[in-house]
Amino acid sequence: MNILVINGPNLNLLGIRKPDVYGHETLSDIEKWLNEQEESEGHNIEWYQSNHEGDLIDRLQEAMGNTDGIIINPGAFTHYSFALRDAIASVNIPTVEVHLSDIYSREVFRKVSVIKDVCIKQISGKGKSGYVKGLIKLISLSE
Ligand code: DQA
Repeated sequence: MNILVINGPNLNLLGIRKPDVYGHETLSDIEKWLNEQEESEGHNIEWYQSNHEGDLIDRLQEAMGNTDGIIINPGAFTHYSFALRDAIASVNIPTVEVHLSDIYSREVFRKVSVIKDVCIKQISGKGKSGYVKGLIKLISLSE
């Protein structure tokens, strides 16, 4: 399968940013780790990160016609970006929402995800394992 993993704003700072919440690993550590998992074998997995809403939307649109599944951690856009929600709904590619931290046990504003109901699954609070769980969900669709 062709899988696209999208990470939104501030996730490029993983490893430095609030390690008590997000852990000590960088985004490229997590990318490398995911590639090494047996579930990744035989799949083409591309990673994309941007701090910019429009760039994330452009990348989602570019996935049309060449991508079988998307794993997205939209960072804080999760909580208010209706534009990102519309983009996910428009491209018609099965998408799993992933959060490293448990968005339901933090500040009140994080408990709302405006993208949850346009995704096939939400995974929150499982750390980097959320990405592999998202991959497993997408693979299960093709079985
Ligand atoms: C996050 C949770 C969001 O609330 C936050 O804004 C992030 C990261 C997570 O992975 O836990 O940037 O999506």
